[in-house]
Amino acid sequence: MQAVQAAATTLAMPAAKPDRYARCIAASKRVRWDIDKDVIRNRRFDLSKKFLPDGLSLVNELPFLDDADKRLLSQVQGRSYANMFGLAERFIAAKVLEVSRDHWLGNQDALEALVRFTDEELKHQELFRRIEALTAEGMPEGYEFVPTPNGVASDVLSKCTWAVLALTLHIELFTQEHYRQGIEPDEALSGLYRDVFFYHWREESQHAILDELEWLREDARLCPEERDRAVTDLIDLVGAVDAILQAQSVADARFFSKYCHRSLSSAERDAVQTSVLKAYRWQYIVSGLQQSRFSTVLASIITPAQQARIGVALEPIVRAFAAH
Ligand SMILES: [Fe+2]
Ligand SMILES: [Fe+2]
Repeated sequence: MQAVQAAATTLAMPAAKPDRYARCIAASKRVRWDIDKDVIRNRRFDLSKKFLPDGLSLVNELPFLDDADKRLLSQVQGRSYANMFGLAERFIAAKVLEVSRDHWLGNQDALEALVRFTDEELKHQELFRRIEALTAEGMPEGYEFVPTPNGVASDVLSKCTWAVLALTLHIELFTQEHYRQGIEPDEALSGLYRDVFFYHWREESQHAILDELEWLREDARLCPEERDRAVTDLIDLVGAVDAILQAQSVADARFFSKYCHRSLSSAERDAVQTSVLKAYRWQYIVSGLQQSRFSTVLASIITPAQQARIGVALEPIVRAFAAH
């Protein structure tokens, strides 16, 4: 009787949850894709279509632009958007490879999941280099992507692991949100551009889960003083991202103003530059901060005083979005 009861109890127990690292490996194997065979498929960009959706490019905030110029501005921003991911993936791949060291002689699923993650980010960097070359073929000369992947990676990787993993989770959540909310539903966008971010999204879903696991693992090692310094590092990193956005928005607004279909007044040129910077802050900083997953995890590991410190530091950036 006791044996029957024990068997019944065993049967009634929920099955043990598969390890999250193991689930990431399974998903990574299931969704794996190839740059040429799946994404590019011998296609070129159709420049009669927008690249970025209006909700990300904010082109409708410039009422003096006609449809052709809104399309061009969306393509210039979309070109930089792809380059920005290629840029971020340089430091993300290096940091993930570094944290994988903690698992070398431990959880082999964790090690495999992080090695696959690194391999995917190397592939994504190649994809975004190919996309840059394809956009360059169809667009006029003079586009400049200002930051360099290794320069940015050296600066970012000089900050503590906690802050780099926080920034990485932020990026890998907002890329998914942008795809699901903006790129996927907009069938008027370039088909190739949508496919790039469709395939990218499929592998990023696993990355965000791993970022969170590794960030929380790193967080558990810190004492309160170290975590407070890590919050300062995170604030510095967001400031560094903003400096990149300021420089790139100047370059992109200048390129757009040169090739826009009618000559712009100096007030209109200023308005384009202000709008592109606002769009970039929305794309790379604010939309991610509004992501509930990121803010929930962050709030669970920092103090209200640290949250307030972040809020004060970011206020000049988020101010323009109070109404969003
Ligand atoms: Fe990626
Ligand atoms: Fe990623």
